Amino acid sequence: MQIEADRSTAAPPDWMASLTYRSEAAITPSPADLQRLLVAARGRNRKLGVTGMLLYDEGRYLQTIEGPPAAVEQVWSSIQRDTRHGQIEVLSQHIVPSRLFSGWDMQLYYHKGGHRNPVMPGSDAAVPLRDHVPAASRFALNGDDRQLNALIGDLVAEGWQGNALVKHLLEPSARAIGDAWLAEDCGEVDLTIALSMLQLAGHAVHSRTCADSIRKSRYSILLVTAPGERHMLGSSYLGDLFNNAGWAVDIAFPETNDQLANQLRAQRPDAVDIALSDALPRHHALTRLTETIERSRAAAPDDMLVVSVGGRLFAEATATARTVGADHARVSAVGTSVRLAGLIEQRRLRR
Ligand SMILES: Cc1cc2nc3c(=O)[nH]c(=O)nc-3n(C[C@H](O)[C@H](O)[C@H](O)COP(=O)(O)O)c2cc1C
Repeated sequence: MQIEADRSTAAPPDWMASLTYRSEAAITPSPADLQRLLVAARGRNRKLGVTGMLLYDEGRYLQTIEGPPAAVEQVWSSIQRDTRHGQIEVLSQHIVPSRLFSGWDMQLYYHKGGHRNPVMPGSDAAVPLRDHVPAASRFALNGDDRQLNALIGDLVAEGWQGNALVKHLLEPSARAIGDAWLAEDCGEVDLTIALSMLQLAGHAVHSRTCADSIRKSRYSILLVTAPGERHMLGSSYLGDLFNNAGWAVDIAFPETNDQLANQLRAQRPDAVDIALSDALPRHHALTRLTETIERSRAAAPDDMLVVSVGGRLFAEATATARTVGADHARVSAVGTSVRLAGLIEQRRLRR
């Protein structure tokens, strides 16, 4: 994993890396094996400032690790080399504004034939926010950002503050989602999207104090090919990345600048990503792309639209966002959603 900084917009320095993967156990671990693994992992995680959740169920591991990017990278390299599991598949990796498992050096969850999973640290039935955990985790698992944001917006309106909301609502909801996976009430993709949605909600409660702006806090993006471009293999991959990060995503292949402008006017997304070919260098397309971006901005006259561009030219760093009047150039797909979320937030703060 390379959580790289973009040329134009790096994530804020105190943000965390978060990585979720699944894998297959090489040999079925006994409870004692799992405990040994856990004790060793916790010792190292504590030193590195890594926290997270490890789920084990019938030969499958699913783990989220979060912490400073360099520390997560270090632990992740070890995990990938570990022969106790194989067929490792990354489900999501982003840079996030806050942790979802702050009290846990690594919490293990698995079915123990009738045994209960460990009591969560910091659990306090007296905190009324806990009553909302079942609803918040259900909304996140259903991908229902509108209801999740409405719930959090209501709680902010009641006077609840960011730290309490993260500790007593969002973090327990993340654990409840882990439980749902173990109980086979949800799949891995649902779990990944739900965790990302809770992370975005964590961002919203830390960065905004107004209940109304939290109610509207999901980001939306329109992913398009530059009008007239072909060879668009990357759109659905990029769409998956944004979906997994909890965004509302639309994909379109407009034929003309007019078509794109009309769609932007009708949909009013927070951001648009306009892609040139990933396969061909396309130097001659830059002038046309500049015009497309001008037209797109004119379709969003309140100057709130964040414009991102992608394609081989930008990935090879032979062109920059500035060359074509965009706000952001995609060097790689990883981390793009976080950088665009940062740019959207900057625009909202300016308003
Ligand atoms: C499913 C699974 C999850 C693991 N999680 C962690 C972890 O969170 N932190 C950690 O330091 N090691 C974890 N390990 C252990 C590492 O893979 C590795 O054995 C250990 O960190 C020693 O690293 P090294 O081999 O690079 O010295 C995990 C191993 C497995 C199989």
